Amino acid sequence: GTSGGADRYEITQREASVEILPGVTTPMWTYDGTFPGPTIESRRGRPVTVSHRNELPVPTVVHLHGGRTPAASDGYPTDLLLPAGRQEHSMHVEHGSGHMGRGSGHMEHGSGHGMHDPRAVVSELTRDYTFPLDQRPALLWYHDHRMDFTAPAIWRGLAGLHIVRDDAEDALGLPAGPRELPLMIADRAFAADGGLAYPALDPTLRVRPGVREPYLAGVLGDVILVNGAPWPVHEVDAARHRLRILNASNARHYELEAVTGDGRRLDLVQVGADQGLLAAPVVHTLFPIAPAERYDVVVDFSGVPIGGLVRVVNRLGSGRTRDVMAFRVARKAADDSRIPRALSADLPAWRRSDAVRVRDFAFRAGQTHAGHGWLIGGLPFDPARTDVTTRLGDVEVWRLVADVHHPVHLHLVGFRVLSRSGRQPLPHDAGLKDTVSLRPGEAVEIITRFDGYRGRYLFHCHNAEHEDMGMMANLEIV
Ligand code: C2O
Ligand code: CU
Ligand code: CU
Repeated sequence: GTSGGADRYEITQREASVEILPGVTTPMWTYDGTFPGPTIESRRGRPVTVSHRNELPVPTVVHLHGGRTPAASDGYPTDLLLPAGRQEHSMHVEHGSGHMGRGSGHMEHGSGHGMHDPRAVVSELTRDYTFPLDQRPALLWYHDHRMDFTAPAIWRGLAGLHIVRDDAEDALGLPAGPRELPLMIADRAFAADGGLAYPALDPTLRVRPGVREPYLAGVLGDVILVNGAPWPVHEVDAARHRLRILNASNARHYELEAVTGDGRRLDLVQVGADQGLLAAPVVHTLFPIAPAERYDVVVDFSGVPIGGLVRVVNRLGSGRTRDVMAFRVARKAADDSRIPRALSADLPAWRRSDAVRVRDFAFRAGQTHAGHGWLIGGLPFDPARTDVTTRLGDVEVWRLVADVHHPVHLHLVGFRVLSRSGRQPLPHDAGLKDTVSLRPGEAVEIITRFDGYRGRYLFHCHNAEHEDMGMMANLEIV
Protein backbone atom coordinates (compact mmCIF):
# COMPACT_ATOMS: atom_id res chain seq x y z
CA GLY A 1 0.00 0.00 0.00
CA THR A 2 1.03 3.65 0.03
CA SER A 3 1.12 6.32 2.66
CA GLY A 4 2.36 9.86 2.52
CA GLY A 5 3.14 9.48 -1.19
CA ALA A 6 5.71 6.74 -0.61
CA ASP A 7 5.46 3.04 -1.39
CA ARG A 8 5.40 1.31 1.94
CA TYR A 9 6.77 -2.09 2.89
CA GLU A 10 6.82 -3.82 6.23
CA ILE A 11 9.57 -6.22 7.15
CA THR A 12 9.84 -8.21 10.35
CA GLN A 13 13.31 -9.24 11.38
CA ARG A 14 12.93 -12.57 13.10
CA GLU A 15 14.44 -15.94 13.75
CA ALA A 16 13.25 -18.62 11.35
CA SER A 17 14.15 -22.17 10.38
CA VAL A 18 14.98 -22.08 6.69
CA GLU A 19 15.53 -25.06 4.43
CA ILE A 20 18.82 -24.24 2.74
CA LEU A 21 20.32 -27.70 2.41
CA PRO A 22 17.75 -30.23 1.13
CA GLY A 23 15.83 -31.84 3.97
CA VAL A 24 17.69 -29.89 6.65
CA THR A 25 16.48 -26.85 8.53
CA THR A 26 18.87 -24.10 9.44
CA PRO A 27 18.02 -21.59 12.17
CA MET A 28 18.68 -18.15 10.71
CA TRP A 29 18.11 -14.49 11.35
CA THR A 30 15.83 -13.32 8.59
CA TYR A 31 13.98 -10.47 7.02
CA ASP A 32 10.40 -11.83 6.97
CA GLY A 33 11.34 -15.47 7.43
CA THR A 34 13.29 -16.05 4.22
CA PHE A 35 16.88 -15.98 3.00
CA PRO A 36 17.50 -13.81 1.10
CA GLY A 37 14.91 -11.39 2.45
CA PRO A 38 12.08 -10.16 0.23
CA THR A 39 13.22 -8.48 -2.99
CA ILE A 40 11.90 -4.94 -3.23
CA GLU A 41 11.39 -3.41 -6.68
CA SER A 42 11.13 0.35 -7.03
CA ARG A 43 10.95 3.06 -9.63
CA ARG A 44 13.59 5.76 -9.79
CA GLY A 45 12.55 8.86 -7.86
CA ARG A 46 9.57 7.21 -6.22
CA PRO A 47 10.20 7.22 -2.49
CA VAL A 48 9.93 4.01 -0.53
CA THR A 49 9.39 3.61 3.18
CA VAL A 50 10.41 0.31 4.69
CA SER A 51 9.11 -0.21 8.16
CA HIS A 52 11.31 -2.67 10.03
CA ARG A 53 10.27 -4.45 13.18
CA ASN A 54 13.03 -6.18 15.09
CA GLU A 55 11.97 -9.44 16.74
CA LEU A 56 15.52 -10.76 16.87
CA PRO A 57 17.30 -11.14 20.22
CA VAL A 58 19.81 -8.38 19.38
CA PRO A 59 19.73 -4.78 18.16
CA THR A 60 20.05 -4.37 14.41
CA VAL A 61 20.76 -1.66 11.85
CA VAL A 62 19.39 -1.57 8.29
CA HIS A 63 21.55 -0.18 5.49
CA LEU A 64 20.52 0.04 1.84
CA HIS A 65 23.81 -0.59 0.06
CA GLY A 66 24.13 1.64 -2.99
CA GLY A 67 21.21 3.79 -1.92
CA ARG A 68 21.35 7.56 -2.21
CA THR A 69 19.79 7.91 1.19
CA PRO A 70 19.50 10.73 3.75
CA ALA A 71 21.78 10.05 6.72
CA ALA A 72 18.86 9.46 9.08
CA SER A 73 17.87 6.33 7.09
CA ASP A 74 21.34 5.23 5.99
CA GLY A 75 21.87 2.81 8.85
CA TYR A 76 24.70 4.32 10.85
CA PRO A 77 26.29 1.47 12.85
CA THR A 78 25.24 2.83 16.24
CA ASP A 79 21.78 3.94 15.09
CA LEU A 80 20.13 0.85 16.54
CA LEU A 81 16.74 -0.68 16.04
CA LEU A 82 16.21 -2.30 19.41
CA PRO A 83 14.74 -5.78 19.74
CA ALA A 84 10.98 -5.69 20.16
CA GLY A 85 10.82 -8.61 22.57
CA ARG A 86 13.55 -7.27 24.80
CA GLN A 87 12.22 -3.78 24.51
CA GLU A 88 8.80 -4.82 25.79
CA HIS A 89 10.55 -6.64 28.56
CA SER A 90 12.63 -3.61 29.42
CA MET A 91 9.51 -1.47 29.49
CA HIS A 92 8.22 -3.88 32.08
CA VAL A 93 11.29 -3.54 34.16
CA GLU A 94 12.00 0.12 33.58
CA HIS A 95 8.82 1.65 34.83
CA GLY A 96 8.95 5.40 34.60
CA SER A 97 12.51 5.48 33.34
CA GLY A 98 11.49 7.96 30.65
CA HIS A 99 14.56 7.35 28.51
CA MET A 100 13.50 4.77 26.01
CA GLY A 101 14.80 6.76 23.08
CA ARG A 102 16.49 5.03 20.19
CA GLY A 103 19.81 3.59 21.20
CA SER A 104 19.24 4.03 24.90
CA GLY A 105 20.09 0.36 25.12
CA HIS A 106 18.85 -0.69 28.54
CA MET A 107 17.51 -3.99 27.29
CA GLU A 108 19.36 -6.23 29.65
CA HIS A 109 19.91 -4.29 32.84
CA GLY A 110 16.61 -2.70 33.79
CA SER A 111 15.24 -2.92 37.29
CA GLY A 112 11.78 -1.83 38.28
CA HIS A 113 8.32 -2.98 37.37
CA GLY A 114 5.19 -2.34 35.39
CA MET A 115 4.37 -1.08 31.95
CA HIS A 116 1.55 1.35 31.56
CA ASP A 117 1.53 2.89 28.14
CA PRO A 118 1.67 0.36 25.31
CA ARG A 119 1.68 3.17 22.73
CA ALA A 120 5.10 4.20 23.99
CA VAL A 121 6.30 0.73 23.11
CA VAL A 122 4.86 0.70 19.61
CA SER A 123 6.98 3.64 18.52
CA GLU A 124 10.09 1.79 19.65
CA LEU A 125 9.40 -1.62 18.17
CA THR A 126 9.42 -0.57 14.57
CA ARG A 127 11.28 1.97 12.59
CA ASP A 128 10.58 3.59 9.24
CA TYR A 129 13.55 3.82 6.93
CA THR A 130 12.84 6.21 4.07
CA PHE A 131 14.56 5.89 0.71
CA PRO A 132 14.00 8.65 -1.87
CA LEU A 133 15.65 6.47 -4.57
CA ASP A 134 16.42 9.57 -6.59
CA GLN A 135 19.24 7.74 -8.34
CA ARG A 136 20.24 5.74 -11.41
CA PRO A 137 18.48 2.39 -11.72
CA ALA A 138 20.62 -0.33 -10.19
CA LEU A 139 20.70 -3.54 -8.20
CA LEU A 140 20.98 -2.46 -4.56
CA TRP A 141 20.93 -4.66 -1.50
CA TYR A 142 19.96 -4.16 2.08
CA HIS A 143 21.82 -5.73 4.94
CA ASP A 144 22.61 -5.39 8.61
CA HIS A 145 25.23 -2.81 9.63
CA ARG A 146 25.51 -2.92 13.43
CA MET A 147 28.85 -1.78 14.78
CA ASP A 148 31.20 -4.73 15.45
CA PHE A 149 28.52 -7.30 14.54
CA THR A 150 27.78 -6.78 10.86
CA ALA A 151 29.60 -9.88 9.64
CA PRO A 152 27.85 -12.46 11.84
CA ALA A 153 24.47 -10.77 11.28
CA ILE A 154 24.80 -10.98 7.49
CA TRP A 155 26.14 -14.52 7.81
CA ARG A 156 23.05 -15.48 9.82
CA GLY A 157 20.86 -14.21 7.00
CA LEU A 158 20.23 -10.46 7.20
CA ALA A 159 20.52 -9.57 3.52
CA GLY A 160 18.08 -8.92 0.68
CA LEU A 161 17.86 -7.30 -2.76
CA HIS A 162 16.36 -3.98 -3.75
CA ILE A 163 16.10 -3.25 -7.48
CA VAL A 164 15.60 0.27 -8.79
CA ARG A 165 14.26 0.64 -12.35
CA ASP A 166 13.32 3.45 -14.70
CA ASP A 167 11.57 3.90 -18.03
CA ALA A 168 14.77 4.57 -19.98
CA GLU A 169 16.28 1.28 -18.85
CA ASP A 170 13.05 -0.62 -19.51
CA ALA A 171 13.02 0.77 -23.06
CA LEU A 172 16.47 -0.63 -23.92
CA GLY A 173 15.10 -4.06 -24.72
CA LEU A 174 17.52 -5.99 -22.49
CA PRO A 175 16.33 -9.49 -21.51
CA ALA A 176 13.46 -9.07 -19.06
CA GLY A 177 10.78 -10.94 -17.14
CA PRO A 178 11.84 -14.54 -16.52
CA ARG A 179 15.01 -13.82 -18.52
CA GLU A 180 16.25 -11.29 -16.00
CA LEU A 181 17.78 -13.12 -13.04
CA PRO A 182 19.07 -11.39 -9.92
CA LEU A 183 21.69 -13.73 -8.44
CA MET A 184 22.85 -13.20 -4.87
CA ILE A 185 25.96 -15.30 -4.38
CA ALA A 186 27.04 -16.03 -0.82
CA ASP A 187 29.11 -18.78 0.77
CA ARG A 188 28.19 -20.34 4.10
CA ALA A 189 29.43 -23.14 6.34
CA PHE A 190 27.10 -25.52 8.12
CA ALA A 191 27.52 -27.49 11.33
CA ALA A 192 26.53 -31.16 11.55
CA ASP A 193 23.13 -30.23 13.03
CA GLY A 194 22.31 -27.97 10.05
CA GLY A 195 23.03 -24.74 11.90
CA LEU A 196 25.29 -22.12 10.39
CA ALA A 197 28.89 -22.40 11.51
CA TYR A 198 30.67 -19.13 12.20
CA PRO A 199 34.09 -19.36 13.79
CA ALA A 200 33.74 -16.24 15.90
CA LEU A 201 30.92 -17.98 17.76
CA ASP A 202 33.17 -20.91 18.58
CA PRO A 203 34.88 -20.32 21.95
CA THR A 204 37.75 -22.63 21.01
CA LEU A 205 38.69 -20.09 18.36
CA ARG A 206 38.96 -17.15 20.76
CA VAL A 207 41.89 -14.88 20.18
CA ARG A 208 44.82 -15.12 22.55
CA PRO A 209 47.52 -12.46 22.64
CA GLY A 210 50.06 -13.10 19.93
CA VAL A 211 47.77 -15.52 18.11
CA ARG A 212 46.41 -14.39 14.80
CA GLU A 213 42.67 -14.55 14.72
CA PRO A 214 41.74 -17.55 12.61
CA TYR A 215 39.20 -15.44 10.75
CA LEU A 216 41.38 -12.38 10.39
CA ALA A 217 41.24 -12.71 6.62
CA GLY A 218 37.45 -13.01 6.80
CA VAL A 219 35.14 -15.97 7.13
CA LEU A 220 34.73 -18.36 4.22
CA GLY A 221 32.13 -21.09 3.78
CA ASP A 222 32.46 -24.31 1.83
CA VAL A 223 28.90 -24.22 0.47
CA ILE A 224 28.09 -21.75 -2.31
CA LEU A 225 24.55 -20.41 -2.22
CA VAL A 226 22.81 -18.54 -5.01
CA ASN A 227 19.61 -16.84 -3.87
CA GLY A 228 19.78 -19.02 -0.78
CA ALA A 229 20.09 -22.37 -2.61
CA PRO A 230 23.27 -24.48 -2.74
CA TRP A 231 24.71 -24.83 -6.26
CA PRO A 232 21.34 -24.43 -7.99
CA VAL A 233 20.64 -25.60 -11.53
CA HIS A 234 18.33 -23.14 -13.25
CA GLU A 235 16.40 -24.05 -16.40
CA VAL A 236 16.58 -21.44 -19.14
CA ASP A 237 15.41 -20.89 -22.70
CA ALA A 238 18.02 -20.97 -25.46
CA ALA A 239 18.04 -17.18 -25.48
CA ARG A 240 19.77 -14.16 -24.00
CA HIS A 241 19.47 -13.72 -20.22
CA ARG A 242 20.37 -10.79 -18.04
CA LEU A 243 22.20 -11.92 -14.90
CA ARG A 244 22.33 -9.32 -12.16
CA ILE A 245 25.05 -10.69 -9.96
CA LEU A 246 25.75 -9.59 -6.40
CA ASN A 247 28.57 -11.01 -4.32
CA ALA A 248 26.93 -10.97 -0.90
CA SER A 249 29.65 -13.14 0.64
CA ASN A 250 31.34 -11.87 3.79
CA ALA A 251 34.86 -12.36 2.47
CA ARG A 252 34.99 -14.62 -0.57
CA HIS A 253 36.23 -13.29 -3.89
CA TYR A 254 35.17 -14.89 -7.15
CA GLU A 255 36.39 -14.89 -10.73
CA LEU A 256 33.37 -15.99 -12.67
CA GLU A 257 33.11 -17.64 -16.05
CA ALA A 258 30.29 -19.50 -17.78
CA VAL A 259 31.50 -22.76 -19.29
CA THR A 260 29.57 -25.04 -21.66
CA GLY A 261 29.65 -28.84 -21.63
CA ASP A 262 32.29 -28.85 -24.35
CA GLY A 263 34.52 -26.45 -22.45
CA ARG A 264 33.62 -23.27 -24.31
CA ARG A 265 33.51 -20.01 -22.32
CA LEU A 266 30.43 -17.96 -23.13
CA ASP A 267 30.73 -14.20 -23.51
CA LEU A 268 29.61 -12.28 -20.46
CA VAL A 269 28.49 -8.97 -21.91
CA GLN A 270 28.59 -6.48 -19.08
CA VAL A 271 25.86 -3.85 -19.30
CA GLY A 272 25.98 -2.49 -15.76
CA ALA A 273 28.09 -2.03 -12.65
CA ASP A 274 27.30 -1.38 -8.96
CA GLN A 275 25.54 1.88 -9.70
CA GLY A 276 23.70 0.98 -12.87
CA LEU A 277 24.14 0.90 -16.62
CA LEU A 278 27.47 1.40 -18.37
CA ALA A 279 27.75 3.88 -21.24
CA ALA A 280 28.34 0.94 -23.61
CA PRO A 281 28.62 -2.83 -23.19
CA VAL A 282 31.96 -4.44 -22.26
CA VAL A 283 32.59 -8.05 -23.28
CA HIS A 284 34.29 -10.39 -20.79
CA THR A 285 34.77 -14.11 -20.66
CA LEU A 286 35.83 -13.90 -17.03
CA PHE A 287 35.44 -11.19 -14.41
CA PRO A 288 36.37 -10.83 -10.77
CA ILE A 289 33.71 -9.91 -8.21
CA ALA A 290 34.64 -8.86 -4.69
CA PRO A 291 32.28 -8.76 -1.70
CA ALA A 292 29.43 -6.24 -2.26
CA GLU A 293 30.21 -5.63 -5.93
CA ARG A 294 27.53 -6.09 -8.58
CA TYR A 295 27.90 -7.00 -12.25
CA ASP A 296 25.03 -6.84 -14.67
CA VAL A 297 25.84 -9.18 -17.57
CA VAL A 298 23.97 -10.60 -20.54
CA VAL A 299 24.67 -14.22 -21.50
CA ASP A 300 23.37 -15.77 -24.71
CA PHE A 301 22.38 -19.43 -24.34
CA SER A 302 21.14 -19.74 -27.94
CA GLY A 303 24.30 -21.52 -29.11
CA VAL A 304 24.10 -24.18 -26.41
CA PRO A 305 22.54 -27.54 -27.42
CA ILE A 306 19.11 -28.20 -25.90
CA GLY A 307 19.60 -30.16 -22.70
CA GLY A 308 23.14 -28.80 -22.33
CA LEU A 309 24.53 -27.45 -19.10
CA VAL A 310 26.37 -24.15 -18.65
CA ARG A 311 28.33 -24.11 -15.42
CA VAL A 312 29.12 -20.87 -13.62
CA VAL A 313 32.58 -21.48 -12.23
CA ASN A 314 34.66 -19.56 -9.71
CA ARG A 315 38.24 -19.80 -10.91
CA LEU A 316 39.48 -18.78 -7.47
CA GLY A 317 37.66 -21.65 -5.77
CA SER A 318 38.89 -25.18 -5.31
CA GLY A 319 37.07 -28.45 -4.89
CA ARG A 320 33.39 -27.81 -4.42
CA THR A 321 33.79 -24.05 -3.98
CA ARG A 322 34.85 -23.93 -7.63
CA ASP A 323 31.25 -24.47 -8.69
CA VAL A 324 28.71 -21.69 -8.20
CA MET A 325 25.61 -22.75 -10.12
CA ALA A 326 24.55 -24.05 -13.51
CA PHE A 327 22.03 -23.29 -16.22
CA ARG A 328 20.30 -26.10 -18.07
CA VAL A 329 19.24 -24.95 -21.52
CA ALA A 330 15.80 -26.53 -21.64
CA ARG A 331 14.14 -25.40 -24.86
CA LYS A 332 14.38 -23.42 -28.06
CA ALA A 333 12.65 -20.07 -27.84
CA ALA A 334 12.15 -16.83 -29.70
CA ASP A 335 14.28 -13.93 -28.48
CA ASP A 336 13.45 -10.31 -29.18
CA SER A 337 15.88 -8.91 -26.61
CA ARG A 338 18.81 -6.77 -27.65
CA ILE A 339 21.98 -5.24 -26.24
CA PRO A 340 22.09 -1.65 -27.53
CA ARG A 341 25.51 -0.20 -28.31
CA ALA A 342 24.59 2.86 -26.27
CA LEU A 343 23.19 1.93 -22.88
CA SER A 344 23.22 5.11 -20.87
CA ALA A 345 24.07 8.75 -21.50
CA ASP A 346 23.89 10.03 -17.92
CA LEU A 347 27.07 8.52 -16.55
CA PRO A 348 29.04 11.17 -14.64
CA ALA A 349 32.30 12.02 -16.41
CA TRP A 350 34.32 13.79 -13.72
CA ARG A 351 37.83 14.73 -14.75
CA ARG A 352 40.86 14.88 -12.53
CA SER A 353 40.89 18.66 -13.02
CA ASP A 354 37.39 18.86 -11.47
CA ALA A 355 38.74 17.66 -8.13
CA VAL A 356 39.14 20.29 -5.43
CA ARG A 357 41.26 17.97 -3.30
CA VAL A 358 43.08 14.66 -3.23
CA ARG A 359 43.08 12.41 -0.19
CA ASP A 360 45.13 9.34 0.64
CA PHE A 361 43.93 6.33 2.60
CA ALA A 362 45.89 3.24 3.51
CA PHE A 363 43.90 0.08 4.17
CA ARG A 364 46.19 -2.05 6.29
CA ALA A 365 46.36 -4.47 9.19
CA GLY A 366 47.54 -3.12 12.52
CA GLN A 367 47.31 -3.31 16.28
CA THR A 368 44.36 -1.86 18.16
CA HIS A 369 43.64 -1.86 21.87
CA ALA A 370 41.55 -4.97 21.20
CA GLY A 371 44.40 -6.81 19.49
CA HIS A 372 44.96 -7.40 15.84
CA GLY A 373 42.67 -5.33 13.64
CA TRP A 374 42.17 -3.72 10.29
CA LEU A 375 42.78 0.00 10.00
CA ILE A 376 42.24 2.94 7.67
CA GLY A 377 45.04 5.47 7.88
CA GLY A 378 46.38 3.67 10.94
CA LEU A 379 43.14 4.02 12.92
CA PRO A 380 40.31 1.65 13.80
CA PHE A 381 36.71 2.83 13.45
CA ASP A 382 35.55 5.25 16.11
CA PRO A 383 32.01 6.61 15.82
CA ALA A 384 33.08 9.67 17.81
CA ARG A 385 35.79 10.73 15.37
CA THR A 386 35.21 12.51 12.06
CA ASP A 387 37.77 11.19 9.62
CA VAL A 388 36.81 13.15 6.53
CA THR A 389 34.89 16.38 6.21
CA THR A 390 33.86 17.47 2.76
CA ARG A 391 31.43 19.94 1.27
CA LEU A 392 28.28 18.99 -0.56
CA GLY A 393 29.02 19.26 -4.27
CA ASP A 394 32.81 18.92 -4.02
CA VAL A 395 34.61 16.63 -6.43
CA GLU A 396 37.51 14.70 -4.87
CA VAL A 397 40.11 12.17 -5.91
CA TRP A 398 40.85 9.47 -3.36
CA ARG A 399 44.00 7.36 -3.54
CA LEU A 400 43.44 4.04 -1.83
CA VAL A 401 46.32 1.71 -1.06
CA ALA A 402 46.03 -1.81 0.28
CA ASP A 403 48.20 -4.43 1.98
CA VAL A 404 45.96 -7.40 1.17
CA HIS A 405 42.71 -7.61 -0.78
CA HIS A 406 40.18 -5.00 0.41
CA PRO A 407 36.90 -4.19 -1.34
CA VAL A 408 36.38 -0.54 -0.43
CA HIS A 409 32.84 0.85 -0.31
CA LEU A 410 31.57 4.42 -0.03
CA HIS A 411 28.11 5.16 1.23
CA LEU A 412 25.84 7.70 -0.51
CA VAL A 413 27.87 8.29 -3.67
CA GLY A 414 28.96 6.40 -6.75
CA PHE A 415 32.49 6.86 -8.07
CA ARG A 416 34.59 6.15 -11.14
CA VAL A 417 37.87 4.27 -11.07
CA LEU A 418 40.63 6.53 -12.45
CA SER A 419 43.68 4.30 -12.26
CA ARG A 420 45.21 1.14 -10.82
CA SER A 421 48.81 1.44 -9.68
CA GLY A 422 49.40 4.23 -12.16
CA ARG A 423 47.88 2.33 -15.07
CA GLN A 424 44.56 2.45 -16.86
CA PRO A 425 41.62 0.93 -14.96
CA LEU A 426 40.73 -2.66 -15.87
CA PRO A 427 37.86 -3.48 -18.25
CA HIS A 428 35.66 -4.52 -15.31
CA ASP A 429 36.20 -1.14 -13.61
CA ALA A 430 33.86 0.44 -16.16
CA GLY A 431 30.85 2.45 -15.13
CA LEU A 432 29.75 3.91 -11.84
CA LYS A 433 30.88 1.92 -8.81
CA ASP A 434 30.20 2.06 -5.09
CA THR A 435 32.65 -0.70 -4.17
CA VAL A 436 36.10 -1.11 -5.66
CA SER A 437 38.31 -4.12 -5.21
CA LEU A 438 41.82 -3.14 -4.07
CA ARG A 439 44.13 -6.00 -4.90
CA PRO A 440 47.10 -6.83 -2.68
CA GLY A 441 49.70 -4.09 -2.78
CA GLU A 442 47.70 -2.02 -5.18
CA ALA A 443 47.03 1.75 -5.28
CA VAL A 444 43.67 2.65 -6.81
CA GLU A 445 42.50 6.17 -7.59
CA ILE A 446 38.79 6.93 -7.60
CA ILE A 447 36.93 10.15 -8.32
CA THR A 448 33.54 11.20 -7.03
CA ARG A 449 31.29 14.14 -6.32
CA PHE A 450 29.82 14.30 -2.83
CA ASP A 451 26.31 14.83 -3.92
CA GLY A 452 22.87 14.24 -2.51
CA TYR A 453 22.64 14.93 1.20
CA ARG A 454 24.57 16.46 4.04
CA GLY A 455 25.28 14.39 7.09
CA ARG A 456 27.37 11.63 8.52
CA TYR A 457 28.17 8.69 6.24
CA LEU A 458 30.74 5.92 6.10
CA PHE A 459 33.39 4.35 3.99
CA HIS A 460 34.80 0.97 4.79
CA CYS A 461 36.20 -2.32 3.65
CA HIS A 462 33.33 -4.64 2.65
CA ASN A 463 35.12 -7.74 3.75
CA ALA A 464 32.55 -7.90 6.54
CA GLU A 465 35.01 -9.26 9.10
CA HIS A 466 37.52 -6.52 8.26
CA GLU A 467 34.74 -3.99 8.71
CA ASP A 468 33.89 -5.40 12.15
CA MET A 469 37.57 -5.40 13.07
CA GLY A 470 37.84 -1.66 12.55
CA MET A 471 38.31 -1.00 8.84
CA MET A 472 35.66 1.71 8.62
CA ALA A 473 35.72 5.52 8.84
CA ASN A 474 33.37 8.48 9.09
CA LEU A 475 32.65 10.79 6.19
CA GLU A 476 30.92 14.02 7.12
CA ILE A 477 29.31 16.00 4.31
CA VAL A 478 28.66 19.61 5.32
CU1 C2O B 1 27.06 -2.82 2.11
CU2 C2O B 1 28.36 0.09 4.61
O1 C2O B 1 27.68 -1.41 3.39
CU1 CU C 1 26.62 0.92 1.64
CU1 CU D 1 39.50 -5.51 3.99
